Amino acid sequence: MDRGIFITFEGSDGCGKSTQIERLRLRLTEDGADRPATFLREPGGTPLGEEIRRLLKRSAPDWNVSAEAELLLFAASRAQLVRETILPALAGGGIVVCDRFLDSTTVYQGVARRLDPGVVNAINQFAAGERRPDVTFLLDLPPEVGLSRAYQRAGPLLLPPDRMELEPLAFYEAVRAGYLRLAALEPERFVVLDASRTPDELARLVWTHLTERFHGPCTSHRA
Ligand SMILES: Nc1ncnc2c1ncn2[C@@H]1O[C@H](COP(=O)(O)OP(=O)(O)OP(=O)(O)O)[C@@H](O)[C@H]1O
Ligand SMILES: [Mg+2]
Repeated sequence: MDRGIFITFEGSDGCGKSTQIERLRLRLTEDGADRPATFLREPGGTPLGEEIRRLLKRSAPDWNVSAEAELLLFAASRAQLVRETILPALAGGGIVVCDRFLDSTTVYQGVARRLDPGVVNAINQFAAGERRPDVTFLLDLPPEVGLSRAYQRAGPLLLPPDRMELEPLAFYEAVRAGYLRLAALEPERFVVLDASRTPDELARLVWTHLTERFHGPCTSHRA
C-alpha cells in the first residue's frame, strides 16, 4: 500500500464540489503542506482525459452518446488518470484530491441511467484498479438547489447547459438517492455533509475531518 492520501469529492451537479476543492487547495498551500498535493477533475486530468471530457460535455442537435458509450468514455478517462497521475502521486506519498471519481459512475450510469450495476461495477474495477479513495466527501443537497446554483453560476453569459444538465429532475433525485445508498454501504470511507451550509462552514468541516483522520494532512506520516 502506498503512503499517499487519496481524497475525493462527490455529489450532484452544482452541490459545491469545485468550491470546496478550491478552499482545500488554498488551505493546503497556506499551511505549507510537506506532502505534494495534486488536484484533479473527472472526466479529465490528463491530455487524453481532457479530450474525452470535451466529448462528454458537448451538446448539439446531431450529437448522440448512448448510455453504454458514455460509461466507456468515463471509464477510459479514469483508466488513464489512475495510471498516468493518481498512482504515481500516491506512490510518492502525495495528497491526491479528485473532483469526482468512481462513485460518480456507479451513481450516474448505474443508478440514474439504469445500466446493469454488475456491468458498471466490473468496468469500474477494470478501469480504476484496486486503489480506492481513503476518504470521500459527499456534498448532499436537494437537486433543485444544486441545479439552480449551477444555472446561477452560468451567469449573464447564459452558457448552454451541458448534456447532463439537460436531464429531468427525476434523474437528479435518483443520483442523490444513489449517492446516499453508497455512503450507507461504506460509512468508513464516506463523510456526508449537508451542502446547504455556507462554503465557510463546509470548508471547516472538511478540514477538521482531514486533520483528525490523518493527524493533520500536512504531516508526512499517515494515521
Ligand atoms: N455552500 C454553498 N452555498 C451556496 N452557494 C454555493 C455553495 N458552494 C458553492 N456555491 C455556488 O454554487 C455554484 C456551484 O458550485 P460549484 O461549481 O462549486 O459546484 P460543483 O459541485 O463543482 O458543480 P458541478 O457538478 O457542475 O461541477 C457556484 O456558483 C458556487 O459559487
Ligand atoms: Mg465542479
